[in-house]
Amino acid sequence: MAVFVTKNAGETVDLGRKYALGLKPNDVVLLRGEMGAGKTAFVKGVALGLGIDEEVLSPTYAYMNDYSGKLYHFDCYRLDGGEQAEALGLTDYFYAGGVCFIEWPQNIASALPDECKTVTIEKLGGDERRISYE
Ligand SMILES: Nc1ncnc2c1ncn2[C@@H]1O[C@H](COP(=O)(O)OP(=O)(O)O)[C@@H](O)[C@H]1O
Ligand SMILES: [Mg+2]
Repeated sequence: MAVFVTKNAGETVDLGRKYALGLKPNDVVLLRGEMGAGKTAFVKGVALGLGIDEEVLSPTYAYMNDYSGKLYHFDCYRLDGGEQAEALGLTDYFYAGGVCFIEWPQNIASALPDECKTVTIEKLGGDERRISYE
């Protein structure tokens, strides 16, 4: 288990950038942490690490943003069950050759692949965040 404490959003972006270097095609990464924890900030760094130059924005109104087929960024906050994710075709992206990062994965738990990685972000005091992964 790797555990880090970041002191600002930039440090979380930087950690995401480094984390991206260990990813393989079709990796599915579950992002756990409350609203405002820094999940999207971490994905901004992942995009940098993957050499994606599009700006990563929260996909709240789209469920999923596709960055050049290399990175699929899901926000499942407003989804209600794995069946809904399947009906929307979202689960097809798990096997599309890119990497998937999923915010609020618990909302689509039944549709998730068996093998997923997990990144957990916890708010400490102020701007500090505890970020851990296997
Ligand atoms: N250490 C930190 N890491 C990440 N974000 C931080 C940190 N400190 C403050 N922030 C702020 O917290 C917010 C995190 O937002 P966001 O990444 O969209 O969270 P989430 O996707 O988990 O809801 C941003 O406004 C960011 O500037
Ligand atoms: Mg977010």
